[in-house]
Amino acid sequence: MYKILLREDLVPGIHLFKVGAPAVARKAKPGQFVVIRIDERGERIPLTIADWDEEEGSVTVVFMEVGTTTRRLALLGTGDYIADFVGPLGLPTDIEKFGTVVCVAGGFAVATIAPIARAMKREGNKVISIMGARNKDLIFWEERLRSFSDQVIVTTDDGSYARQGLVTEPLKELLESGEKIDRVIAIGPSIMMKFCSLTTQPFGIKTIVSLNPIMVDGTGMCGCCRVSVGGVTKFVCVNGPDFDGHK
Ligand code: FES
Repeated sequence: MYKILLREDLVPGIHLFKVGAPAVARKAKPGQFVVIRIDERGERIPLTIADWDEEEGSVTVVFMEVGTTTRRLALLGTGDYIADFVGPLGLPTDIEKFGTVVCVAGGFAVATIAPIARAMKREGNKVISIMGARNKDLIFWEERLRSFSDQVIVTTDDGSYARQGLVTEPLKELLESGEKIDRVIAIGPSIMMKFCSLTTQPFGIKTIVSLNPIMVDGTGMCGCCRVSVGGVTKFVCVNGPDFDGHK
């Protein structure tokens, strides 16, 4: 059993659990995920690793209440236990010194992009982060992202906070500004990743997207996550979750 060391409600419907899982914490890398099961009869769901602390032996996940399991998960609190917490799974994000990296997060994917932005910064990259949400009430971890980024641009769909519009707009402006951008990482809803990839394609800048939204069991058995990447069939949970967005 895995103990929930801390529960934090980030915004309505989005929660953070810090879970005691020393073996996972020892191996975790940015971009990887865990598969959890609340109890013996529960369904398995993949959750991206948002943070980890090897010394404390903890792994942090952030989830949104969208279905039965995440709603059941949201009923748990600090001191409760989860039956299974398996990981780290999936291939880590490619972290290198690229130069200037733009990290684009849509919705609660800011929790996924934060460890990637941190690792990119530690590697010596200039990190420009763009985070977008539907409205002000859904914004979280802005300060955290600022601490790993040279610049942060925030957008809301309805203009209730920061700049009004979609994340693709400041992304396009950055690309058109003439600043040399070496890599873009876009994580969020599938449609947002699609349009980020379409925005960067004419500029020929390699764009990595994370297809974790389409995973189910996360272990290569259900087949739900099959995708065609550059004409080759891949499994998101085994060969990803990161892929070249232009493919
Ligand atoms: Fe089931 Fe990949 S998520 S096979």
